[in-house]
Amino acid sequence: MLMSLSLTAAILADFRHRFAYEPLLVRAPGRVNLIGEHTDYNGGFVLPAAIDKEIVFAVGLNGASHLRLVAYDLSETLTLTDAADISPSDVHWANYLLGVAAQFQQRGVAVPGFDCVFGGNIPVGAGVSSSAAVECGLAFALNQLLETGLDKLTLARMAQQAEHTYAGVKCGIMDQFASLFGRAGQVVRLDCRSLDYAYFPFDTQACRIVLCNSGVKHSLASTAYNTRRQECEQGVAVLQQHNPAIQTLRDATLADLEAHRAELSPTVYRRCTYVVQENARVETACHHLETGNLTAFGQEMYASHAGLRDDYEVSCAELDALVEAARGLPGVFGARMMGGGFGGCTINLVAPAQVDEFIASVSAAYEEQFGRRPETYQTTIVDGVGVV
Ligand code: GLA
Repeated sequence: MLMSLSLTAAILADFRHRFAYEPLLVRAPGRVNLIGEHTDYNGGFVLPAAIDKEIVFAVGLNGASHLRLVAYDLSETLTLTDAADISPSDVHWANYLLGVAAQFQQRGVAVPGFDCVFGGNIPVGAGVSSSAAVECGLAFALNQLLETGLDKLTLARMAQQAEHTYAGVKCGIMDQFASLFGRAGQVVRLDCRSLDYAYFPFDTQACRIVLCNSGVKHSLASTAYNTRRQECEQGVAVLQQHNPAIQTLRDATLADLEAHRAELSPTVYRRCTYVVQENARVETACHHLETGNLTAFGQEMYASHAGLRDDYEVSCAELDALVEAARGLPGVFGARMMGGGFGGCTINLVAPAQVDEFIASVSAAYEEQFGRRPETYQTTIVDGVGVV
């Protein structure tokens, strides 16, 4: 909280110093996902929550036509002479903002000149959705400033589209949804087909959520991510020929996959099998959450990791080692890689009394194998995007 206050103060001071007027202040959180990975773009279930790693934005309309964007943490700025001429930039971080502004324009909203200073403490490339936080924070801020009155689901969809078009990652809706719809002390189960959702209490005082950052930045991730998505679509195309009701892998069963296995490449078969199983795991895991059975919940997490590692093939040696180091330690309910994969963090559910020992053991094991200690974060669950 203290950190967050001083961060907000620093962003506000920077904005005032540069632009000499009062901005709107918005915060946008990153997310964890307890279970349900690579299911969102397959119409399946996810179980994320917004966390106390956030990005703070100071945004204001400047009364002219230019855009002035400032990445506070990088001490970099990008200026554009006319907001009407937005297009993808070779400045990587700016694309998340420009992509969002372009979404407003595509909906017929004229975007006037604006200024934006943003910065935060969400580790980048760590699978905790710093990019979604950037998109959702600006989408929320512009919606307020331009008085466009768009609802949160529309903002989430616009943020997702910004990622597709300006960052080239054909992501699902989970990250943007979690950043906007997060609720303090609750995880949210989202049905990514109907977009129905339900909150489940999750008390991080009773069970800690500890993230262990492998430090491997998923640089190849966007290409591999898009390939996974295509492989799932290939599977659906085959199954659909036999059963038109199968629109996404959410509609398929293991029996469907088995029946048409000969028509699927071995890779596509494994990818699809993982997704169908992972969907079922989310439902089972939610049941365990409702009955308070964290041990059984944790078993679903381990199974999720195994599927991501062996069948979906989005893990890496570092993530596997972190999960293995956690497994069997006292007080650990479950562990798995989190997010898109190819690096980033593992998520671990740990009994509070054992957290220190957990961090010490996992860090030592990781250091022995990879010569560096992982960063670890104990996260709490907070509200989604809002005005500060
Ligand atoms: C990334 C994407 C999400 C989701 C996860 C994997 O975080 O942005 O939409 O697909 O990977 O579950």
